[in-house]
Order: sequence, then C-alpha cells, then structure tokens
Amino acid sequence: SIEGPLEGQKVVVTAGPTREHIDPVRFISNPSSGKMGVAMAEAAQSLGADVTLIHGPLSIPTPEDIHSVKITSTADLFDAVKQYAAADVIIMAAAVSDFTPEEVHQNKVKKDKADNEIKLKQTPDIISWLGEHKPKGQILIGFAMETENLIENATTKLNKKNADFIIANSLNDKDAGFEADTNSVHLLSKDSEQKFQGSKKDISIEILNTIFRS
Ligand code: C5P
Repeated sequence: SIEGPLEGQKVVVTAGPTREHIDPVRFISNPSSGKMGVAMAEAAQSLGADVTLIHGPLSIPTPEDIHSVKITSTADLFDAVKQYAAADVIIMAAAVSDFTPEEVHQNKVKKDKADNEIKLKQTPDIISWLGEHKPKGQILIGFAMETENLIENATTKLNKKNADFIIANSLNDKDAGFEADTNSVHLLSKDSEQKFQGSKKDISIEILNTIFRS
C-alpha cells in the first residue's frame, strides 16, 4: 500500500458533466471535460486513498487504475453518490446540470413539430443532500464556478451546502475553467482562504495536502 495523508481513507470523487436527455438523440449538458475531477481522484489515490470515481461522459480517458462508476444523468449520479455516501471524504467536482426535462420522449422528436417546447424542472442538489446527511467526521468538498463575486458567492455555497471546503474558480480567469489543463482556484473553509494556481494535476495534490496533512 501507499503511504500518505489519505492512507486507508475512502474517498469518493465525482467528475465530468451530466446529460439530461430530451429524447434518445438529444440532451442538455455543459462543457465540463472532467479533467479537474479526474486530477482530484488521481491525487487522492497517490496520497494513499481508496478512491471511487463516479463520472459522467468524459472528454479525456477514464483512468484505468481507479475504481470507476459511469453515470449519465443527474438522477443516476444521485443514486450512485447515495450508494457511496458513507465515505470518509467526498469531493463533488461534477458539473451537475441544474435542470432536466420534465418529460423524456421515448422516440426522437420530429423537427416539423412546430410547437416544440421543452419544460424543465430543477434537479436535486446532490451536495446539499450530502451536507444534510453528513456522517460525523466526513469531509465534504464542493466546487463553485462563478462569473462574478467569486469569494462572496462561494462562501454562500459553503454555508448553504454545509460543505467543509469549497474550491472556487472564476470563469473569467485566464487558463482556468472547463476545458483547460490548468486552473486558478481559491480553497475556502469557514476560517481560511488560500489560492492555488497551476496544472489541475499539481494543484489537486497541493489542495489535498493542505486539507489533510496533520
Ligand atoms: O450551486 P452550484 O451548482 O454552483 O454548486 C456547485 C457545487 O454543487 C459543485 O460541487 C457541484 O458538484 C454541486 N452540485 C450538486 N448538485 C447539483 C448542482 C451542483 O451536487 N444539482
């Protein structure tokens, strides 16, 4: 086994986008590549953790040496997360869709149907559910991607979602965000704030070392 600050710890990481199907050939999604979540999962494993990666459709290869569970929709993700919710650490890096169609068509919707309207409903906020059901001692880490008032909005999320840490990044920062190999983030807890900048791989190791070194 590997020695590290996460040795023997069960760590669940969610990564990538979800897909909310409208019909068999169309869906609502987002540009998440899964790079940040996969980097967090690899970092946790290299620090000794027993990792489960729950991921949507990734635009990078799924790491072969990490136990992975593939999901498509937010509902699938919620089911999978509940199954693994007894972990020591949960890192919600997935870019979960906030909306899903009220109705999923079983057949392809015809384009000549002029009045096509897609009615949406809100998806469950998975990390809020985890925050409400958090076992004693579990560390819950969320992400926040903002376009304005980064620290203020991320602090609100930290409190509302009952997370222990929020990793906040701004979509406006250069070399940061959805598809980049690098990121620039603020790690927020109730009483601390620290900035990390660099490759998603490097900052993942640095962030986990910061949180878990004794
Ligand atoms: O509120 P917002 O979606 O910006 O918060 C982002 C954080 O919440 C991320 O950690 C994301 O994985 C999580 N999230 C979730 N369920 C949702 C939406 C977001 O767990 N339905």
